[in-house]
Parts: sequence; structure tokens; C-alpha cells
Amino acid sequence: MKAVIPAAGLGTRFLPATKAQPKEMLPVYNKPTIQYVVEEAVNSGIDDILIITGKGKRTIEDHFDRSFELEYSLNKKDKKEYLKEIQDITYMADIYYVRQKTQKGLGDAISCAEKHIGDESFAVLLGDTITYSDVPCTKQLLDVYEKYHGSTIAIERLPEYKIERYGIVDGVTVEDNIYKVNNLVEKPKLEEAPSNLGITGRYILTPDIFDKLNSIQPGVGGELQLTDAINEQENVYATTFEGSIYDIGNTKEWLKSSIDMALTHDDVHDELINFLKQKINEN
Ligand code: G1P
Repeated sequence: MKAVIPAAGLGTRFLPATKAQPKEMLPVYNKPTIQYVVEEAVNSGIDDILIITGKGKRTIEDHFDRSFELEYSLNKKDKKEYLKEIQDITYMADIYYVRQKTQKGLGDAISCAEKHIGDESFAVLLGDTITYSDVPCTKQLLDVYEKYHGSTIAIERLPEYKIERYGIVDGVTVEDNIYKVNNLVEKPKLEEAPSNLGITGRYILTPDIFDKLNSIQPGVGGELQLTDAINEQENVYATTFEGSIYDIGNTKEWLKSSIDMALTHDDVHDELINFLKQKINEN
């Protein structure tokens, strides 16, 4: 299976930090966001990855490319640990790129993957969303897809204040934590939301999605919505994700994700906890 990572958005919610750098390159603790996303695909068994980029996103390609100067310098200084780490980034997957020419929405971005994907099901991992769990989110989705064979979406239970920012699922339970989807509503008003189950930014899609994307009209925000194309598919399932999810396009969530990721490093953990305790006392 191949994976597609849309990373073409403008990052307007994170200005001015994203004025001259892609939001997908914002560091979460010590790695750029998109590296976590690529690692999730690789840890789910996928090593053919297409990143949908756009204007101003060139540093993403540089990050996954070789850096001879850096390698030479680290080698000379005998910093073998860093050397291995940066070489691993280059070789962890076969990464391809295509540019979305105009900002016409997530649905349009996924359409750009049609030639690379062909007639197979594929994974989609939004480039500005990172997940943290023992079993990677995309692997959890693949397990459900292999059982039901339809497009499969990762969902999470949302607090009310988040509902209007997400695609929301109307479905019926088929087994614990798995729903057959009747309808998806993109960014509904709270009172019109069919549930509190929100689409998290991880999907397995069957290839008929490309025909559906070609036939839908612009939806919410005047954009071609992936959600509307999935609604046209026959067998769609949704499964609740076990783990943490962070939408790093949102400044508060980015900050929380950095803290969460930093706490997984033993050399930082105690110092950071003490700092946070001190701040709690002061406030
Ligand atoms: C997109 C999807 C939406 C989903 C969200 C998750 O919206 O259209 O259905 O819930 O990602 O982050 P966006 O955040 O690109 O507006």
C-alpha cells in the first residue's frame, strides 16, 4: 500500500510563524511535524509515500534529502549518533512529491495523487496532524480496512467546542469502536452535528475516491471537500483511534504536542515536570 500526505495548506492559523516556512516543518520538540507523519506511515508498514506540496514548501523536500555537507561535517567531528539520525531520515521511505497548483481544498489535493496511486487502496495522513500511540494510528486503520474492505476513517470523540472545525460522522455501530458510516458532515454547526465523532486526519481510501472527487461540487468554504467525495462511496467505516492526536496547525495543540513528545524523552522528563509544577504554583 502507498500513502499520501497532503501538505499544501497555507498555515494561516499559525501566522506569523508560517509566513516563510511550511507549518509541516514546525518542530514538535526536536523533529519537524512531517517527520512524525512519515514515521507513522513507515511504522505502519508503508514505505512508498507521496507528499502533496505547494508553493513555499521546498524545505520539506530538503529535509528528506541527503545533506552531504552536514554528513561530512558530522563524520569529521565524530558525531556518529547525529550522523546516523540524519541519514535514517533520508532512507526511511521512498518519498515522491507533486505540487497542488491552486488552493482548492483537501479534495483537490488528494486528486493530485491519482496518477501515482492508480487502482489501489491507499492511506491518507494529513501532514499537519500527528498521532501518538503504541500501535500507530494508520496501522489501527489498516487492521479495520482488512476486515471490512471499504474506505475507513479514524475518528475521535470531540468536545463540543471543536465540532465546528471537523468532519462529523453519522453512523451505526457494527462492533466495539467500529461504525458503518451513513453520512459525513463537514464542519457542521454544533446543533446540526449528527454526533461528536470527528474525523481525525487519517484515512484508508479505496481508489473509486478519484472518480467521486472528479464529480463533486465545491462544498464548505467553497473548497472541494474530501468528506463530500467519501460520502459518495458505498462502503465506508469509521473506527475510534486509541491514542493522542494533535492538530499542529492550531497553536495551543502544537504547544501541547511539544510537551507530550518532550515527556517521552528520559533526559528531559524530570526537568520539564519540575518546570511545569513550578509554573502551576506560580499561577
Ligand atoms: C480536514 C477535513 C475534516 C477533518 C480535519 C481533521 O479539515 O476536511 O473533515 O475533520 O481535516 O483535522 P481541515 O482541518 O483541513 O479544515
